[in-house]
Amino acid sequence: MSAGRFDDHPFIRACRCQPHDRVPVWFMRQAGRSLPEYRAIRGEGTILDAIADPDLSTEITLQPVRRYGVDAAILYSDIVVPAHAVGFGLTVTPGVGPEVEHPFRSAADLDRLRPLDPEADTPYVLETVRQLVTELDVPLIGFAGAPFTVASYLIEGRPSRDYANTKRLMFTDETLWHALMERLADMAITSLRSQIDNGASAIQLFDSWAGALSPPQYERYVLPHSSRVLAGVADTGVPRIHFGVTTGELLELIRDAGADVVGVDWRVPLDRARARVGDEVALQGNLDPTMVLAGVDAALEGTRDVLARNAGHPGHVFNLGHGVMPAVDPDVLSAVVEVVHREGTVN
Ligand code: CP3
Repeated sequence: MSAGRFDDHPFIRACRCQPHDRVPVWFMRQAGRSLPEYRAIRGEGTILDAIADPDLSTEITLQPVRRYGVDAAILYSDIVVPAHAVGFGLTVTPGVGPEVEHPFRSAADLDRLRPLDPEADTPYVLETVRQLVTELDVPLIGFAGAPFTVASYLIEGRPSRDYANTKRLMFTDETLWHALMERLADMAITSLRSQIDNGASAIQLFDSWAGALSPPQYERYVLPHSSRVLAGVADTGVPRIHFGVTTGELLELIRDAGADVVGVDWRVPLDRARARVGDEVALQGNLDPTMVLAGVDAALEGTRDVLARNAGHPGHVFNLGHGVMPAVDPDVLSAVVEVVHREGTVN
């Protein structure tokens, strides 16, 4: 199977550990937040309103591609869009994140998570994807939230530090836990497949908060479900990236879940991540986002360190170790892209 017209693009080739001529780079959270041109058009209302407007979402997705010359676009959407679209009852509060009025508590709440019908429930997402693939000359990355990370929002009701309610449900009612994870996995598969069907060339599964779990916990409560999501899009042939934060101890398991590309946060030096996952899988990362915030000197020193630690392995997609912070100077990111393209080497 193929990713279509971008099969020879450095980003797609790097995801597949195939030789190519330059290290590809894109940034998590490159769309929105720090760009003045984003703030100029974003408008009032929540991000969910902006996502429901395909012309606006298309433009926001294109802005960082134009400005930075990155090698991939990430769809402007959010991991909570499918749950919102089936009527779970959530909003995304600016500066806070997703908030749920009635958090998930019991088996009765499963009824609030009916199957997603992407054409009917999220037509605006698919329209945005279709518009983007006609305008982009780099691959479009579609994405979904992994079951654990989406569950953490539905159960906690707001961003959390310790995921105490989520883990309590996991440990006290394993049957309900797995039932919830199955619904969220189905939702992720359906959403990802609809993005791929409409032209996305790669996908990323965001399990941002999986690092809250120990390896045995991850293996028992989360891995089977994330693994099913990744397997559920395998036949499409598009590269699959699997990312979480504070996952140093989980990297082997995240690889075992079945991704083509393992996202690495900044806490694990890239050479150490490579030693953990082996040579057969690509790595994505992992410049510390605060080095970008610190200015051009720190950012470029960090960039060169990441490139050196990758040591020319063809399976490397340069990225930050997590998202772009709102206060960064966009010119620093432009300088990072230039150095990755100029100095990055592929064996
Ligand atoms: O640039 C991109 O990465 C593309 C768009 C994107 C958004 N959210 C837009 C957004 C993507 C890929 C996401 C995924 C997402 N959403 C994740 C996984 C990635 C990660 O950062 O770990 C998570 C955990 C969420 C949940 C979420 N949504 C959070 C934690 C927040 C932050 C709140 C804030 O204001 O900082 C949001 C809101 C959100 N999603 C914003 C954007 C641009 C900011 C709010 C806005 O512009 O109104």
